[in-house]
Amino acid sequence: MLLTDAARAVRENAHAPYSNFKVGAAVKTAAGNIYVGCNVENVAYPEGTCAEAGAIAAMIAAGERDIVEVAVIADSPKPVTPCGGCRQKLAEFAGSDAVVTMLTTDGPQEVTTVGQLLPGSFDADYMTRT
Ligand code: THU
Repeated sequence: MLLTDAARAVRENAHAPYSNFKVGAAVKTAAGNIYVGCNVENVAYPEGTCAEAGAIAAMIAAGERDIVEVAVIADSPKPVTPCGGCRQKLAEFAGSDAVVTMLTTDGPQEVTTVGQLLPGSFDADYMTRT
């Protein structure tokens, strides 16, 4: 299955009654496996958890940690971009050259990389004096 198709399919399961903005995400690992996630909102924290975070959690729960490709999709006027927190979460498990495809449900898409989404990211190298 295409990574973009996996993200498109899981978006249907999103629980987004507060924003009415359903998001689907899929990550592919170095082993070639695909993990998916959708956004899940709740009444106390209506921003909920992002689709990307869900896909990452599924990957971690399955015992994998190495993301090589990402897809994220929403019904938006332009291809949906991962939020700041999700950029950091993706950078934790993906190299800067990992490809990120951002899509709208009705066609337009943009392709970028984790490094372009989060330039100058904080990483463990900054902590070598501790
Ligand atoms: N959302 C995501 O799932 N991923 C993003 O990258 C952007 C935002 C969700 C969170 C919330 O449920 C809704 O979209 C509106 O912010």
